[in-house]
This record gives sequence, structure tokens and C-alpha cells, in this order.
Amino acid sequence: MENLSPEQLIEIENQLSCPNGQFGIDIGQNMYSTNLGMITSSINALAIASGNKVLEIGHGNCHHLPIILEQAENIQFYGLEISETMKTEAELKNKEHLKQQSVEFTRYDGISIPFPENSFDKVMTANTIYFWKKPLQFLAEIHRVMKPNGTFVIAFAQKDFMKDLPFVKEKFQLYNNQDLSDLVSKSSFKLISIHNKTENVIGTANELINRNYAVAVLEK
Ligand SMILES: C[S@@+](CC[C@H](N)C(=O)[O-])C[C@H]1O[C@@H](n2cnc3c(N)ncnc32)[C@H](O)[C@@H]1O
Repeated sequence: MENLSPEQLIEIENQLSCPNGQFGIDIGQNMYSTNLGMITSSINALAIASGNKVLEIGHGNCHHLPIILEQAENIQFYGLEISETMKTEAELKNKEHLKQQSVEFTRYDGISIPFPENSFDKVMTANTIYFWKKPLQFLAEIHRVMKPNGTFVIAFAQKDFMKDLPFVKEKFQLYNNQDLSDLVSKSSFKLISIHNKTENVIGTANELINRNYAVAVLEK
């Protein structure tokens, strides 16, 4: 990563915020492998029950869909992405599940969630909060589409860890637990818990990185 030019680092930042084209497909695969721990922790925190309608916001290539679907019987899964490349990748990787019609991927503008009020029992999002344009407004939009007492899980890598990464520039809004808690306190959600986690991930230069992240559990 030290050998990358400033232009290449900006391109990586753009791709992480909205993967596009072949490079976007490669980045999507890389995100899937490095973020699987965060994604799995989020799925566990959702406590998905039989018959639940689940929404994931910013699912990337959604290679992890089978993990969600095996949590309980008769789950309906909806994925939302701003990236056409990721929506298409998710559809390709999950062809078999799409046939069963309990899975749907949709591209949208990242602002207005294209579902009616009280639609979802569970909502999750991993590594997208950094890119929300108007976080409070977006929380209100997520709140609108959730059923009463529904669970919303947000997983994010800690500000202290993220701030030194070479590709983290102006596209990222970074959070620590206090920032997250301040944001949620201004919304209609109740913050139930924030679980702090640490994991080892392999960096781009094959180095072992110790990553601190949080899994926040909110309730409507
Ligand atoms: C850093 S990647 C994380 C992907 C995956 N969730 C993971 O943790 O590996 C961010 C993803 O969120 C998508 N994204 C960014 N802002 C979004 C928004 N407001 N709504 C939905 N998706 C968004 C991007 O297109 C990208 O695929």
C-alpha cells in the first residue's frame, strides 16, 4: 500500500464507497473476505427468527447470504445497494436463492428507501455508515421502514483504527462509540448495546492488522 500513488489511493477510496466495473468486482471480493468477521457478528446480533423479513443496506457482493438464510426458517431477504456492480454481483452469486423468490436485490439512491413503512423485522448494515450523506435523515428513513420493536444492527470499524489507513480521505465520515451514541440519541431509535470487538485481518501488503470494530444494536 506504501507504493500506491495518491491517485490510486483516491481510486480505492471511491471504489470502497461505491464499487464499479472490474476493479469494483475485485474490491467487492476483497471486502467480502476481510469483512466476513464483521458481517457474521452483525448477523448474530440480529437474532433472526423464523419468518423474519430482513433488510441489508450496502451488502457488497453478498457472498454471505447463505449465512443469513440458514439462521431460521422462511426468511425473506431484501438487499439495497447504491452500486449497480454490487447489485449485479450479488444476483450472480446468489442465483439459486433468487429462484426461490424469497430474496430480492435493489439498487437505489442511498437516500430514500424504496419500501413502505413497517416492512422489516431486522435491518443490518456493515461498513456503510462512513458514507451516509445525511446520517440523521438516513436513520429516520430506516426507522420508517422497520416494524415496531424491530432490531437494527450497525457494524463499523473504529475511528482510531480507520484514521491511519492511507485510502481514508474525504469520502469517509469516521465514528467511535461516543459519536455513534450521540447520533442515535438524536434519532427515534433506542440504543440497546454496543459490542466492542477486535480481530486480525490480512492487509493489502499481506501484513497482519489488528482491527477494532463495534457492533451497535438499535431498537425501533
Ligand atoms: C465498504 S463497502 C462494505 C460492503 C459490505 N457491507 C462489507 O462490510 O464488506 C460499502 C458498500 O456500501 C455501499 N453503500 C455506500 N453507501 C450506501 C448507502 N447509503 N446505501 C446502500 N449502500 C451503500 C457501497 O456501494 C459498498 O458496496
